[in-house]
Amino acid sequence: MNPDLQRAFSPARLGKLPLKNRILKAATYEGKAPDGVPGQALLNFHKAIVGGGTAMTTIGYCATEADGRINDQMLWMDEIHRDALTHLCNELKAHAPDARISGQMAHCGNFSKNRRLQRLQRPLGPSRMFSMLGASAGYPNSGAMTMQDIDYFVSTYARAATLMKAVGFDAVEIHFSHGYGLSQFISPKTNRRSDEYGGSLRNRMRLPLRVLEAVRKAVGDDFPILGKMGLTDGIKDGLHLPEALDVATMLDSAGIDALICSGGTSSFNPMVYFRGDTLDKGLIAVEKNPITRLGLRLVGPRLFKHYPYRENFFLEEAKQVRDRVQCQMVYIGGCTELDSLATVMREGFDFVQLGRPLIKDPNYVNNAMGNSDYLNGCIHCNRCATLIEAPGGVYCPLNDELPGKQPA
Ligand SMILES: Cc1cc2nc3c(=O)[nH]c(=O)nc-3n(C[C@H](O)[C@H](O)[C@H](O)COP(=O)(O)O)c2cc1C
Repeated sequence: MNPDLQRAFSPARLGKLPLKNRILKAATYEGKAPDGVPGQALLNFHKAIVGGGTAMTTIGYCATEADGRINDQMLWMDEIHRDALTHLCNELKAHAPDARISGQMAHCGNFSKNRRLQRLQRPLGPSRMFSMLGASAGYPNSGAMTMQDIDYFVSTYARAATLMKAVGFDAVEIHFSHGYGLSQFISPKTNRRSDEYGGSLRNRMRLPLRVLEAVRKAVGDDFPILGKMGLTDGIKDGLHLPEALDVATMLDSAGIDALICSGGTSSFNPMVYFRGDTLDKGLIAVEKNPITRLGLRLVGPRLFKHYPYRENFFLEEAKQVRDRVQCQMVYIGGCTELDSLATVMREGFDFVQLGRPLIKDPNYVNNAMGNSDYLNGCIHCNRCATLIEAPGGVYCPLNDELPGKQPA
């Protein structure tokens, strides 16, 4: 086998954590935790991934508190879920003893339509702003965090990280991108503060760096912390590559173990991180709330811009980050076929995260290792992504359409 592919399928270490190969599952919010409870459907989804040879799976969007959820069906890290989370990790490890489990730590900030807020009256972000998503749940305007809110926000990450380590996660991934809470602080588009948390990049990074410090303190030096950061927001007045390179340097200097470079924001320009077929028609088809449906019809064509898919679509920008930092690098974005995997390995990335390719084929590693003719078959139709709020959550509808296959 080509030496670059051999490298991809050979053991490696993430920080000090041994992994059996360099293929990681990207965080893809699964929509499989009804009422926020991690149950059998979530377990089955990740069992297929770890059973298929992936070195480390990532449980997508683990909110750091109940009010950090985008909707009220999302999983959140809380003592009330300790037993269920322990069960999830134990079962995954029993199923694939040499596989690892990471969890993506996220807080929505002001990007929420959660109707069951527990602590807050309305979603909070760095600055007050109108939110179409919030409007669908009765919160058209989000509020601006006070200093106490900021301290509390940081504490949710510390508590969640402590819990995640205790229940059996092997690593955590902090979400600094895609327009959620931390990304709202980093982006000049959404952070209009005039105190020490707004203005210069150093100030806009103050909260993300406090979160990293708190998570590190909670998990200790030997526990890997990955960070998913944005290369660009993909919007005027937002974060762009020159500042993103400085974001990477700051996270690196603050002791992150590995960086994953994505981009775009769910609030303003999600297709930057998806690429391929647009999501709006599929989302309208599964949306139950008539106001959200109407909103999607009105803003859909502007929100879901056309970004044609190409393999390794973040590679050139991610290489610029690679050249700036000492920490390990995880490539993400359109690494669907084996040639692309070989390129990523040849470029010196330590790991690759796969999202859609592993939804299409959870058995990817077992199928592709030693088979240079392997074709993944994901066509970037993004139908999986339109299902995140559909009953049963995310799966690949294309697989149901294979000849002789019964629908899931
Ligand atoms: C169904 C689905 C859900 C996703 N949910 C998340 C998420 O919860 N957190 C996140 O950071 N990215 C999420 N993403 C983006 C992926 O992690 C990844 O950045 C993107 O799919 C590009 O990688 P790929 O080409 O390997 O799919 C999601 C993607 C899909 C398809």
